[in-house]
Amino acid sequence: MTVQIDHALEEIRRFRPSPEFAAQAVADEHLYEAARADRLGFWADQARELLRWEKPFTRTLDWSNPPFAKWFDDGELNVAVNCLDRHVEAGLGDRVALHWEGEPGDRRDITYAELTDEVKRAANVLTELGIGEQDRVAIYLPMIPEAVVAMLACARIGAIHSVVFGGFSADSLASRIDDAEASLVITADGGYRKGKVFPLKPVVDEALAKTDGGTVRNVLVVRRGENEIDWNAERDLWWHETVANASNEHVAKGFDAEHPLFILYTSGTTGKPKGILHTTGGYLTQVAFTHKAVFDLHPERDVYWCTADVGWITGHSYVVYGPLANAATQVLYEGTPDTPHPGRWWEIVERYKVSILYTAPTAIRSFMKMGRQIPHSFNLRSLRLLGSVGEPINPEAWIWYRHVIGGGSIPVVDTWWQTETGAIMISALPGITDLKPGSAQVPVPGVSIDILADDGDPVDGENGGLLVVTEPWPSMLRGIWGDPERFKETYWEKFGTAPDKSMYFAGDGARRDEDGDIWLLGRVDDVMNVSGHRLSTAEIESSLVAHPWTAEAAVVGAADETTGQAVVAFVILKQSQEEAVSTLEDVSEVLRKHVATQIGAIARPRQVFVVNELPKTRSGKIMRRLLRDLAEGREVGDTTTLADTSIMQVISSQVR
Ligand code: WT7
Repeated sequence: MTVQIDHALEEIRRFRPSPEFAAQAVADEHLYEAARADRLGFWADQARELLRWEKPFTRTLDWSNPPFAKWFDDGELNVAVNCLDRHVEAGLGDRVALHWEGEPGDRRDITYAELTDEVKRAANVLTELGIGEQDRVAIYLPMIPEAVVAMLACARIGAIHSVVFGGFSADSLASRIDDAEASLVITADGGYRKGKVFPLKPVVDEALAKTDGGTVRNVLVVRRGENEIDWNAERDLWWHETVANASNEHVAKGFDAEHPLFILYTSGTTGKPKGILHTTGGYLTQVAFTHKAVFDLHPERDVYWCTADVGWITGHSYVVYGPLANAATQVLYEGTPDTPHPGRWWEIVERYKVSILYTAPTAIRSFMKMGRQIPHSFNLRSLRLLGSVGEPINPEAWIWYRHVIGGGSIPVVDTWWQTETGAIMISALPGITDLKPGSAQVPVPGVSIDILADDGDPVDGENGGLLVVTEPWPSMLRGIWGDPERFKETYWEKFGTAPDKSMYFAGDGARRDEDGDIWLLGRVDDVMNVSGHRLSTAEIESSLVAHPWTAEAAVVGAADETTGQAVVAFVILKQSQEEAVSTLEDVSEVLRKHVATQIGAIARPRQVFVVNELPKTRSGKIMRRLLRDLAEGREVGDTTTLADTSIMQVISSQVR
């Protein structure tokens, strides 16, 4: 694995925190000591210090019915009040919450007082539309302030949001609306991307025409793209005609700490995305704590920017809930990094004097390719901390990030976590940890991680194994929406069902080096990671076979210089269709497009190869490992378990 090769080369590199940074750092050694001495007490302290409780909790963790955890469950809080009202009451109403910048260059600064006002109005509109506690609201919006407002308005009234990334197709949106039985969709006419307006409301219309449920009563539409859209007067409402005219008075009530906050769909090993469920008290505690400690947040002087879209968990935890709970000032940017020019991000850093930047290795690698002249034509001296998330960051990219973007001496933190974990689980703490490029390093205080062999025994020394979380943590997922059995099987029964074997299985491989630092080695299941986004091989395969030309399909994630992994598909065409198909290039193009329309552009395969056979074992299981060898241009590995051992030669000749 590339990570290991780099590792051998880079292992000598260590970066001590500078004494100046350490002296002002939010986190200190005491956090680790406190968490080691009394893990639950540590989290209870964080919950009390970082959040406002309408009713204080007396119980920290109820783990009497694993894997269904309850944190702080006799306490009550309101998430929106924690992110907004309490800051205004503390005199921070004039602090900018969001420096928003649209892709065409329009800008809005929104203070905490203004954001609070807008969320109260939106909460009143939702209530008028009949949205009550526990009702599901689907949010399908571009990166505009209304996305943040919509999420917080749901939280304020105890409704459950399900944000669907704006790049997902009508089919993907429909299945998510259906699964959650949403009663309202909040969308925009369109948003800006790469200099053009991409339509959203038309996709919602298409999705709703598909859903059988008819659970959606209304569609609330923000005007953004000003593109032409159809209007269903019985169902559709404009945001600017409802929210703007609603009352800005709204008294929020406290909800139980285990009241659900959101569902977020993510890909698993089967074709059907899982609706990951998060609740309020524990989630907000851990996102607020990690946002503060990992990013060394000084809210009175920092300008923070996380480049993730709110459609992903990073956007939920580190654009919306963490930063706002901590009263941070942050940048929210609608568009792509290279529009209208390749220095757009760096121009934004310069304009707002961004001091903390949190982004993904794939973005760093594509900037690396373009060269340092682009960032260096802007003033980046405001930056004092850099973060990375989504996939392993190779040491070269880490070093480039630190030197070219960070000027050579500021900390870079590589943060490992997942949609399911809700918040950062493994990361250096700046000012404390000696940094090691390429390694995510150590569990955050209060989190217990181990690396086990397949049989559940500890691994020997520095051998690779499976990453597990051995103790419940506050922001852990509470389940898969509507499917408690899948929740248990997928995450908690990897090593058997005996209580002492029940541990959270993350799906990642990892190893620990001689210093105890953790190196992530990629997924061990059929989940791919493309540009830091999770994609399921099974989901793309079923999309491919849904096309009338395709008889069979196998999909692998192949190493890619920029995106980490890329989707590579191998398909067998139906014999009856072979005549209809003109050239194989066309087939490949048609199928690539088909996947993009069915799932979303992020799932579009880099390559689709038409082959006559797929490598299968005697029991009929496709050996994706061999296809991956082929896709990565390597010599094909051990083929002895194939039903027909000569098949790989045939396939190779068809691929080249
Ligand atoms: C998967 C989770 C967490 C927000 C973004 C992705 C991979 C994530 C790292 C990292 C190595 C990482 C893992 C994980 N991953 N961060 N710092 N180093 N791998 O969330 O879509 O739920 O995907 O992303 O494979 O399981 P997600």
